[in-house]
Amino acid sequence: MIVLGLETSCDETAAALVDGDRNILAEVVLSQFEEHRPYGGVVPEIAARGHLDHIDRLTAEVMKRAALPFDAIDGVAATTGPGLIGGVIVGVMTAKAIAAVHRKPFLAVNHLEGHALTARLTDDVAFPYLLLLVSGGHCQILAVEGVGQYRRLGTTIDDAAGEAFDKVAKMLGLGYPGGPAVQAAAKAGDAARFPFPRPMKGRPGCDFSFSGLKTSVRQMVEKLPPGPLSDHDKADLAAGFQAAVVDSIADRVKRALRDFRGSAFVVAGGVAANSALRARLTALSAEAGLPFIAPPLRLCTDNAAMIAWAGLEHLRLGRTDPLDTRPRPRWPLDPEAPKSRGAGAVKA
Ligand code: KG4
Ligand code: ZN
Repeated sequence: MIVLGLETSCDETAAALVDGDRNILAEVVLSQFEEHRPYGGVVPEIAARGHLDHIDRLTAEVMKRAALPFDAIDGVAATTGPGLIGGVIVGVMTAKAIAAVHRKPFLAVNHLEGHALTARLTDDVAFPYLLLLVSGGHCQILAVEGVGQYRRLGTTIDDAAGEAFDKVAKMLGLGYPGGPAVQAAAKAGDAARFPFPRPMKGRPGCDFSFSGLKTSVRQMVEKLPPGPLSDHDKADLAAGFQAAVVDSIADRVKRALRDFRGSAFVVAGGVAANSALRARLTALSAEAGLPFIAPPLRLCTDNAAMIAWAGLEHLRLGRTDPLDTRPRPRWPLDPEAPKSRGAGAVKA
């Protein structure tokens, strides 16, 4: 079984082919990074135009790399939400066109489900497992119980973790994307100099919040002498902020792990690249007696292999979608979970 997957929900245009033996036959990811950099964040209209410019070429490229004709594939999957609607439409329409012309099933994939099932592509993890999804757009803890069976244990009530890194980096003049820049600056910093709050720590449930922490970084900056921040101040602020984020996430994860029975603890999303966070999560997982699974970074961040794989998991259960399936800019993985205003509910 071979599935073609397309991802266009945020600022990466990606195409990939995977097979039922968990092989990635070909994959390409084109980041729009440079186009958005001058704005310090993703501009939806620029993103949609970028996807439109590149999706056909990238799709042809993966077919060529795998040396496969469209007839050899068994289904075409596309991120159908949640995400920036202009981009989602580009991917969905492309996938539907290929599916219609070649008489293959169309597979509508939830972007978050792509992240959630990646550990089964990379590590063949058995259900159920606990997933921490931390990226620029999402911040959730999910119990992954089966294909299509996701229980959201926690989500952010305001910003996503990566979004907070990006905004703080902007405040400190460290550049975009902020996560890697904050991590680098934090290396030389004293995390104890600025007493940042640990949002949600000790609260019931597993929800996250990063907006107050971001504000407190701003207030701390305003208290310093006017003028450009010194490298020394930047390093201390970055270190203090990073330590607060890691403590806050660790507290939420610890609560989720306490009540969880399953096969593994899995992390996904761009913030999973953070070495301080990784170290803490590894320790928490060991304490809970669960294997810690962190897929390779290129599969943790937005990519199309995860979309192709989620499509394949649907297809082998006989679940396909009609060609009039509508893109869904909002599409919670767990429909039972209370509605959230948080970033994970809005963009991908
Ligand atoms: O998963 P991703 O590539 O894209 C989505 O947002 O879907 O995640 C990107 C996010 C950005 O906010 C970036 O600043 C953050 O991941 N990030 C990091 C690190 N590397 C990337 N945050 C903290 N530490 C890092 N080393
Ligand atoms: Zn994502």
